[in-house]
Amino acid sequence: MPNTGSRPRTVIITGGASGIGLATTERLLAVGWRVAAFDRDQAAIAKLHNAYGDKVRADVLDVTDEPAAEAAVNNVAAVRRAVLHHTPMRRYAVPDEVATATLFLLDGTQSSFITGAILPVDGGFTGAGLMELEVGLPEED
Ligand SMILES: NC(=O)c1ccc[n+]([C@@H]2O[C@H](COP(=O)([O-])OP(=O)(O)OC[C@H]3O[C@@H](n4cnc5c(N)ncnc54)[C@H](O)[C@@H]3O)[C@@H](O)[C@H]2O)c1
Repeated sequence: MPNTGSRPRTVIITGGASGIGLATTERLLAVGWRVAAFDRDQAAIAKLHNAYGDKVRADVLDVTDEPAAEAAVNNVAAVRRAVLHHTPMRRYAVPDEVATATLFLLDGTQSSFITGAILPVDGGFTGAGLMELEVGLPEED
């Protein structure tokens, strides 16, 4: 199911760095889901992280370690809330919003005098949210 609504959902995949879990991770990433993949296999997690970088959250976790599993789940939710909180538009992009910006930059008739520029497509996070985080403004609820 494509995850292209205005608020893409996040899924946690346990055993997500190999076999069925990895295939699920890759499938969901390809259609716009945010994926947190947990696996106890450190080398497989490193490989996943190398392949997808920041597109995936890949952490070593043994799900039989209950306190660690609970902390990992809470952390995924907290990071997501913090980023949204510091994004002026209060949502994540839908994939097409990034695709149209790419097309704009590639299309010489639309961006004929733009060269070497970085165009943030981030709901205002770089301009305002990142600055808030850097200067450490107190968080609101
Ligand atoms: N592949 C099949 O055809 C098939 C069919 C039926 C059932 N299953 C079952 O489905 C499950 C997954 O199969 P697979 O082929 O993807 O196996 P796999 O070994 O390729 O992947 C399993 C992943 O889970 C991780 N893992 C195992 N225990 C963990 C733990 N406690 N905490 C975190 N990560 C853990 C492993 O490190 C590994 O990366 C297995 O239990 C398997 O028996 C597989």
